[in-house]
Amino acid sequence: MLKGVGHRKKVRRKVSKKTGKTQFDKYELYSKAVQSAENDVVFIRNTYKELKKKAPRIFREDFCGTFALSTEWIKLDPKHQSIGVDLDPEPIAYGKAHYLSKLRPEQQKRMKVIEGNVMDPSLEKADIIAAMNFSYFCFKQRWMLKNYFANAYKTLSKDGIFLLDVFGGSQCYDAIEDRMKHKDFTYYWDQTNFDPVTNNAVFHIHFRVGGKKIEQVFTYDWRLWSISEIREIMHEVGFAKSHVYWEGTAKDGSGDGNFTRVDHGESCESWIAYVVAEK
Ligand SMILES: C[S@@+](CC[C@H](N)C(=O)[O-])C[C@H]1O[C@@H](n2cnc3c(N)ncnc32)[C@H](O)[C@@H]1O
Repeated sequence: MLKGVGHRKKVRRKVSKKTGKTQFDKYELYSKAVQSAENDVVFIRNTYKELKKKAPRIFREDFCGTFALSTEWIKLDPKHQSIGVDLDPEPIAYGKAHYLSKLRPEQQKRMKVIEGNVMDPSLEKADIIAAMNFSYFCFKQRWMLKNYFANAYKTLSKDGIFLLDVFGGSQCYDAIEDRMKHKDFTYYWDQTNFDPVTNNAVFHIHFRVGGKKIEQVFTYDWRLWSISEIREIMHEVGFAKSHVYWEGTAKDGSGDGNFTRVDHGESCESWIAYVVAEK
């Protein structure tokens, strides 16, 4: 959502033979605007190695959508296996057509995609469980988030880690629309309806492609959880330790993309961090 990603590839605009109108590929734009799967899997692997002093093998991507991370995990090492879990068949079908199909047969065998619920206690165990792009913010009640964390704990291997990203900062309470221009499209992150009583807020992603702004391509109805709440709940469900990885600052004051373990953060308009729990 808030992550800036470098973009070199061109956005393919498809022209429907029937209507002659320009169509757009919402998952392709989403991936270019907010995902950085190749870099994320390297960070995730290195974090596991740093904490556990050994190499991880099985990666589970909860709320996987088009399972871009799971695919990159497979490519990173021939011993890697991954499991993607999502309720929605639409992004799963997209991932199968656009990502899974591009893996070699041997790589495809190491990958599993499950159309299912992250709350399912029979999900396969993994060395790493990741819930990225703030997807767990969909759990608005504390007991719901706690049940999810408890299931992640239960379905994690003995030496496993559970990794989440989280965002915050004074700006995330304002009704603002952030805009980021890319080569062939513009990405908008629209924050609305922050409610200080419930901490709930609604977010939209819009895109402008070929001169036309397409509104509310993705909408998220979330509760904004704080790092301290997340860590407290992790410990309540049994995690032995939790760590926070905070982004360094570039010369211009923006995030530099390097995350290191910290005991304290700094107050700023907008930040992203990772919270990592150890079983
Ligand atoms: C914000 S998208 C994140 C997609 C992907 N993780 C990413 O990094 O871009 C949230 C996804 O969570 C899925 N989802 C929501 N609740 C879920 C649940 N209880 N179990 C599994 N998937 C769920 C939705 O279908 C959606 O694809």
